[in-house]
Amino acid sequence: MPLTKVSIAARDLESADRVVAALAAPELPEPLASTTFEVPAGGYLVELYYDRDVAAAALEQALAGHGVQAGKPVLEALPETNWVAVSQAALPPVMAGRFIVHGSHDRARFLMRRTAIEIEAGEAFGTGHNATTTLCLRALDRLAHARSFARVVDVGCGTGVLALAAARVFPKACVIATDNDPIATGMARDNVRLTRLLGGVAVIDATGFVHPRLRGLRPDLVLANILPGPLIELAPVVRQRLVRGGVAVLCGLLTHQVREVAATYGSVGFRLIAKDTDAGWAALTVQRR
Ligand SMILES: C[S@@+](CC[C@H](N)C(=O)[O-])C[C@H]1O[C@@H](n2cnc3c(N)ncnc32)[C@H](O)[C@@H]1O
Repeated sequence: MPLTKVSIAARDLESADRVVAALAAPELPEPLASTTFEVPAGGYLVELYYDRDVAAAALEQALAGHGVQAGKPVLEALPETNWVAVSQAALPPVMAGRFIVHGSHDRARFLMRRTAIEIEAGEAFGTGHNATTTLCLRALDRLAHARSFARVVDVGCGTGVLALAAARVFPKACVIATDNDPIATGMARDNVRLTRLLGGVAVIDATGFVHPRLRGLRPDLVLANILPGPLIELAPVVRQRLVRGGVAVLCGLLTHQVREVAATYGSVGFRLIAKDTDAGWAALTVQRR
């Protein structure tokens, strides 16, 4: 059965979530998958994939019935395709600094590369195909050329890609990966098991630093590819936890959000040491004074 892709524009993340909730109504066919993207020019786009007939009018009616204000559903018939082959081809290896992030379909190519990180695409974020991940990997690569770190915390680890990269370049470091989404921590644990590491990566279910195992920890490097809201909320905690001279790589912000995040970290005692941008996204590297 060919697939139908439905795209619906939403003003903000809350409206996008409401679109997804309204279209989960029992009278509508269940989508195979749905994804929400932030559009750099502004707003969000919800994409839903159906393997059954779906009518624009029924979708519009469901949105109206739930009082959801969103764009008109745009339907697109996708041709019959070998989706495994397509998704693998669409997930080519990603190079960022010294790191290569690849899927299992490319395992043989990179078996001997010490800085290769195998990540299976799944529900967690972090295959390396998003600019925010590559920005963080590049920042990590640059830091690793300059100095070493002994205690690394990857807050919001998703697939664990940044924690694994840190463990690759700082093999003696204690690396801890946290996420508040159990799907992400499950995938991160699987990816840690897949990776041949000298040291290990501990994966913890936690929001920010709230976990008994993180209580006394004083990292010298924090990697946080999360949204500006949580980054701003975490600023005093990151300041309190990082050792003096410790570094944080902050990402998940659009370029127009840089000023607010940089100002917040500046106000709690950090100096900005690098700002990198790509595809409308930015990563800030800050150092505790
Ligand atoms: C954009 S993904 C980043 C994944 C990966 N670190 C990367 O760079 O590709 C953000 C992740 O942070 C998690 N997250 C968001 N806010 C968080 C918080 N305050 N504490 C822990 N995890 C958080 C989300 O569940 C999500 O898995």
